[in-house]
Amino acid sequence: MPDLSINFAGINAPNPFWLASGPPTNTAEQVISAFRAGWGGAVWKTIGTQVVNVSSRYAGISFQGRKLAGMTNIELISDRSIADNLRDIELVKKTFPDRPVVVSLMTQSRKQWHQLVKDVEQTGADGLELNFSCPHGMSERGMGSAVGQEPNLVEMLTHWVKEVAKLPVMVKLTPNITDVRQPAFAAKQGGADALAMINTIKSIAGVDIDNFVPFPQVGLHSTTGGLSGQMIKPIALNMVKNCAKEVGLPISGIGGIENWNDAVEFFLLGAAMVQICTGVMKRGFGLIHQLTSGLMSYMSDKGFEKISDFSGKALANITEWENLDLSYKVVALINSGSCIGCRQCFIVCNDGGYQAIQLKENDGQIIPVIIEENCTGCNLCSLVCPVEKCITMIRKN
Ligand SMILES: Cc1cc2nc3c(=O)[nH]c(=O)nc-3n(C[C@H](O)[C@H](O)[C@H](O)COP(=O)(O)O)c2cc1C
Repeated sequence: MPDLSINFAGINAPNPFWLASGPPTNTAEQVISAFRAGWGGAVWKTIGTQVVNVSSRYAGISFQGRKLAGMTNIELISDRSIADNLRDIELVKKTFPDRPVVVSLMTQSRKQWHQLVKDVEQTGADGLELNFSCPHGMSERGMGSAVGQEPNLVEMLTHWVKEVAKLPVMVKLTPNITDVRQPAFAAKQGGADALAMINTIKSIAGVDIDNFVPFPQVGLHSTTGGLSGQMIKPIALNMVKNCAKEVGLPISGIGGIENWNDAVEFFLLGAAMVQICTGVMKRGFGLIHQLTSGLMSYMSDKGFEKISDFSGKALANITEWENLDLSYKVVALINSGSCIGCRQCFIVCNDGGYQAIQLKENDGQIIPVIIEENCTGCNLCSLVCPVEKCITMIRKN
């Protein structure tokens, strides 16, 4: 039987699936209910400064009929009082002493950071996550991603926290930056024990073309928000890979995880555990069942006993472009038996590709045929083909 338990930066958890800081970790009731369902840990909704949240605050992005493929939010940190949050965290820890609760923090002066860390450490929490990554609302006040975009500030604030913290400290990075390795190295320099990545990506979900107000709407206005959910996974994976290859801190992977295979991809690129927010907002705490059972089956199939057996296993297969094998060649092969004659491959190859498909008549039917010498092996035809395995790429040398 594979063992899903982890030790992440000194924190033990029964499995690598944690709730990310956000609406699902706003109250004791929610986190207790999540732990009952089987979640491995939770990062508490960020606390530290009194805020008021707006209404409405989420906008969904549908993609090809799939609702909430992405979501843009303009929510700030917890709008409950710090005292209420601390009481709730204590209650969760008393109810589930074996389940880690990491508290996400965001405040301003060195004195405020010190006080907040000391207060949180009284609750029995297991770790601290520094929110240097919220991209809206808080950043205009010099917090969140305003810190995360400035490596000097990341290092300084991490250091302030480490001056007093007894618990492990993760720094949560913003993707709204050109090179995420720079704040990651700065966090390490400041004494961080781990990285959490990524937070949301600056975005506008869409615009109401009748009243000209973007979404989400607060009356007749909107503002730039943060994109989360499945749409951001490729960006998160790349950033996790960049840090895993070079920075040398344990990584908690976040961004668009909604099923066990998403999580496996994060592990393979170097994450040691994962956090989920939007997936839980869409599907509830019951999501944990397919995550743990799917991961167990995958690990059994592959013969992995622990997450650490395969964390980072794909990194060796990523190289710089100039190291790729220029003599490696594939070409498309169309299975005329399963072709439905939609001509989509012909259209895209001619108009948006390399003119390597021609239409031929066969028994009164028009079928696409590959012109092998023109085929660059780009994959486009196989990507648009609506029939599973009708177009495959075959190796030529
Ligand atoms: C509505 C909403 C509120 C969030 N609030 C916080 C927060 O208070 N602190 C924080 O660090 N991240 C916050 N996040 C970011 C998530 O923790 C996570 O980093 C991000 O959504 C990407 O993961 P996901 O695609 O699984 O949602 C929030 C995300 C959403 C959607």
